[in-house]
Amino acid sequence: MIPDRRSAPGAETLASLPLETLLSRDYDVSPALVHEQLRARYGPVAPIDLLGVPAWFVLGYDQVLSVMQNVGDVWSKRVDTWRAYTEGRVPADWPLLALLQADNMGFDDGERHHALRAAWDAALRPYQDPAHPQAQMLERAMLGFCDELIGVMTDGTSAGWADLCTQYGRPLPLMVANRMLGVTLERGEDMMMDQWRLLDGPDSAGAYQRLYAALLELATAKRHQPGEDLPSYMLAAKPDLTDEELARDLFMLPGFLDFTGSLICNVIVELMTNPQLRAGLPAGAVEETVNRVALLNPALANLTFRYARTDVRLGRFTIAAGDPVMLSIAAAHADPRFADALSRDPLRSTRAHLAWGAGAHGCPSRRLATKMTTIAVRRLQERFSTLKLALPADQLPWRASPFVRAVRTLPVQYELSPGFTPTATPTAAPAEDAGEGRQPSRSGFWTFLRKLRRTQ
Ligand code: HEM
Repeated sequence: MIPDRRSAPGAETLASLPLETLLSRDYDVSPALVHEQLRARYGPVAPIDLLGVPAWFVLGYDQVLSVMQNVGDVWSKRVDTWRAYTEGRVPADWPLLALLQADNMGFDDGERHHALRAAWDAALRPYQDPAHPQAQMLERAMLGFCDELIGVMTDGTSAGWADLCTQYGRPLPLMVANRMLGVTLERGEDMMMDQWRLLDGPDSAGAYQRLYAALLELATAKRHQPGEDLPSYMLAAKPDLTDEELARDLFMLPGFLDFTGSLICNVIVELMTNPQLRAGLPAGAVEETVNRVALLNPALANLTFRYARTDVRLGRFTIAAGDPVMLSIAAAHADPRFADALSRDPLRSTRAHLAWGAGAHGCPSRRLATKMTTIAVRRLQERFSTLKLALPADQLPWRASPFVRAVRTLPVQYELSPGFTPTATPTAAPAEDAGEGRQPSRSGFWTFLRKLRRTQ
């Protein structure tokens, strides 16, 4: 990496400070421990090396919140405000570069962000307003998807072994995404496989191309024949969206839906391993448990970069204009200034946590993601009389990721509750395959899920 020309000997710039390597085996096993070491050494902001690129890691609750709330004026999400990037000092093959270069709402500021955000808010409203028929239909569909996945997972047995991550928590939100996108069943299943490949490989690059092409085709189709679905609602809210802009924004869905899968799995893990949380369940009900897990173990642990628009003091350092900061929601939640105030509350519950972000870029889909997680967890409780972790909690395999805190697999032993009638399998999307004159194919995605069962 070419050194920063602005660094002067003795000055506390990113280039002059020794950097702490963030991602390591220790970080995968116990990010909380690494956070506390960084906090003890540097306070609320630490200089880190992120896969070879220098950045500031923000661990303090007040500092994370302040950056979130000041995107647009003090901070930017646009990659072209990153000094090292514009000066050509970020290697072209840096693994996170393609993500940060994405030309969509998540990586924009100001007027353009504001206009796209209004379209997202309008398009998500029918799914998040409990009185709206679309929200009610989606809720019924979610129950059907849960039952369908449980059916494949248990495969006619009343007791056995399953992986609640790969066979339940992760596929469910992808099924919901396809319903919201209003894609045909057959196309939807190809897309689900590609969403999975995009996130986990193999063939992420191929999956990226195919998925973008499918979303572009979908955007064009919805412009000509709108339906009751997210892309059509977005076009209705912002008719001047080009097909390419719409496809690029819809491309955010697989990632965010996968965070929902991670949240579902984190709730299941906490319920199995945290007796205090389990004890609070009858009183607090599942929705409150979801809120508490978002606080205790946020699925989106660290966020993508923001860049300082001007020199700004944060923690013990001055962040130079153009420097990147990575906000750590997980570390902010463990900040004693925040966590100690909470622990006086025996329920340890608050809505002041940052798991959904805050400010202009805060999650527009919090209610929907909470609803999906609540339904997924409640359905497990209804359908299974026994669900036990099949390995010691400290041996759960966590995914190695700079952003997500999520298990790779979640092996459990189960016993189904007797005499339960599953919800009828819903159609995948309001726009069905009927017009194409063929029976819906349930091959690719379901073969993949069934294979998971057979190989256990
Ligand atoms: C139905 C599922 C979800 C959808 C459709 C969704 C959608 C989005 C979108 C479009 C944004 C970008 C907002 C903007 O830039 O203005 C966003 C931001 C965010 N979402 Fe969600 N989300 C979902 C689930 C989740 C889940 C499960 C979590 C975490 C538990 C989460 C946490 C966040 C956070 C922290 C941000 C802020 C990111 C940042 O500031 O860099 N979302 N979400």
